[in-house]
Amino acid sequence: MGICIITGIGAGIGKATAIKLAQRGLFDGYALVGRNDADIEATRQTMSEYVAASNLRVFKADLSYPETIPAVVEAIHDTMGEIDCLLNIAGYTDPKPLLATTLESFDLTYRINVYSPFVFMRECVKYMRNRGGKILNVASTAGMTPRPGWLSYASSKAALISMSETLTAELSEYGIMVYCVSPGRCATKLRKRLAPDEDPTTIMQPEEVAEVICNLVDPNECCLDGQNIVIRKVMKK
Ligand SMILES: NC(=O)c1ccc[n+]([C@@H]2O[C@H](COP(=O)([O-])OP(=O)(O)OC[C@H]3O[C@@H](n4cnc5c(N)ncnc54)[C@H](OP(=O)(O)O)[C@@H]3O)[C@@H](O)[C@H]2O)c1
Repeated sequence: MGICIITGIGAGIGKATAIKLAQRGLFDGYALVGRNDADIEATRQTMSEYVAASNLRVFKADLSYPETIPAVVEAIHDTMGEIDCLLNIAGYTDPKPLLATTLESFDLTYRINVYSPFVFMRECVKYMRNRGGKILNVASTAGMTPRPGWLSYASSKAALISMSETLTAELSEYGIMVYCVSPGRCATKLRKRLAPDEDPTTIMQPEEVAEVICNLVDPNECCLDGQNIVIRKVMKK
């Protein structure tokens, strides 16, 4: 297997996924896309217990600026080799009701949650279309049912679900499979912003979402693309 690109590796679901993939040895190399040096280094250090350091490369990117992504993907391809998998995991939320939602906040949410995955997919497919591959987008159950007060976040995730479905059909001729997962409540920084008073020990943990993502991108999995897969956990009382 070739290279796997992972965004959002500094924390939460992205970090847990990167470490679990390294433990499983599913790919030859990992392109770690993040923006915070200390967080990136912590993830890279843990992964290096399982993967040779030369097969772990960091690519700094602030996904508020999706126009910078083509150069990042080109650099990944040129320095690491063929891209087999893209995991769009990074995400952002500024939960506000309609009358408190500014155009700036709405735009930033879409830049990170919609435009960045779009540009990453477009740029990776330029390389993947010759040999196939897998793309997985992390949406949210917030994109499926009404979430009063979360207008920009919920609608951005609905867009990501829709893009994933469209591209599953469009890219199948190249042997590219597009997966979309929609986690429910998961104990991360982002969830804390959405539900500040919630006890994180009472909800799903990032490693549990990561487990599902790793199963989907495993080369042996070939039947679950093209649908919005809800990841949720019923907690024991
Ligand atoms: N937690 C949940 O309940 C839940 C439920 C459904 C879906 N999701 C989705 O799961 C994905 C992962 O989120 P999480 O819950 O694991 O939250 P998290 O721990 O806050 O992780 C979010 C990641 O995205 C990165 N990110 C945010 N803005 C960025 C930017 N401008 N440029 C580069 N990276 C940026 C963060 O980097 P920094 O640390 O530098 O900000 C962080 O690594 C998101 O797409 C989220 O919408 C989460």
